[in-house]
Amino acid sequence: MVMSDALQTTQQEALQQLEAINDAAALQQWKTRFLGPKGVLRDLMSKIGTLAADEKKAYGQNVNALKEALTSAFDTREALIAQQTLAQDLEGGEVDITLSGRPAARGRIHPSIRTLRDFYTIWADMGFQVYRSREVEEDDYNFTRLNFPPDHPARDMQDTFYTTQENVILRTHTSPGQVRAMEAMGDGGSKPIRVILPGMCYRFEQITARSEVQFHQVEGLAIGRNIRMSDLKGTVTEFAKRMFGEQAQVRFRASYFPFTEPSMEVDVECFLCGGEGCRICKYSGWLEIAGSGMVHPNVLRSGGYDPSIWSGFAFGMGPERVTMLKYGLDDIRYFWGNDLRFLEQF
Ligand code: PHE
Repeated sequence: MVMSDALQTTQQEALQQLEAINDAAALQQWKTRFLGPKGVLRDLMSKIGTLAADEKKAYGQNVNALKEALTSAFDTREALIAQQTLAQDLEGGEVDITLSGRPAARGRIHPSIRTLRDFYTIWADMGFQVYRSREVEEDDYNFTRLNFPPDHPARDMQDTFYTTQENVILRTHTSPGQVRAMEAMGDGGSKPIRVILPGMCYRFEQITARSEVQFHQVEGLAIGRNIRMSDLKGTVTEFAKRMFGEQAQVRFRASYFPFTEPSMEVDVECFLCGGEGCRICKYSGWLEIAGSGMVHPNVLRSGGYDPSIWSGFAFGMGPERVTMLKYGLDDIRYFWGNDLRFLEQF
């Protein structure tokens, strides 16, 4: 073989040079020189035209074998150099492979929603269905049908968000849902009801650490033939124990709401200080968690029930309040502030 010696010499030369290369730039130069479009290999291949017919085939195969040998040697060298470069970078401290990875950002459940979900679970276990009542409500349902006297101060412009529509407001509490539920589920005042009514409420108030213009409430309503105050007390006490723990103490304080009679405020013993008195409970040892009472006869009538046959209890709780107490939060504005530093803690 005339040319095979020349090919071998080329191979040796090329591989020797490659061995000596230690950086990416020199590596590219080598590639251009031997494997590039105007490189040595191309040159060798083009000589095929000058050969005798019987030599062409073998020569072509040899050049191809050479090309393959050089290409594979190049790939090996390239990988080695890349590794060495990385190792040098590591020594220089540019990449610290001992650092733990960055976790991908994940969404979280809002603290209010967490508490709401706890409520749903507990009330569902106690036989209460969820009924969703509207947030945009009629003045009539929010007040009149709930036995608010016409001049009651809660109707004042200061508390209520009015709309441009006559009689259409944003509900100031979930209690209008009592009448809505009675209408929707009572079958003309003939069926017992056991529901909770969760949702957002709105009040036209100065936003402070203790009051927001929007907040959740969870209303509860039970209507039946022999429902008494002891049922209300037992049910709410059971809820508090499931929510705050078996040791939770509950007390009922006489209060006033137009739509319940009698009315009671529900307090739980402060779980921060165990009743000793602290900043959170304002040194009273008790935390208010709900308003409650026996459904007023006028409200039963609003919902189509005959108060001489039917009775019921109702309560209204604030999940934001409960969340604040649970986590020791001292400012309600965190809830809708959309500050990730706050939200990411839950
Ligand atoms: N709606 C009352 C409030 O917003 C709470 C309440 C609900 C009281 C049901 C009694 C019965 O404060």
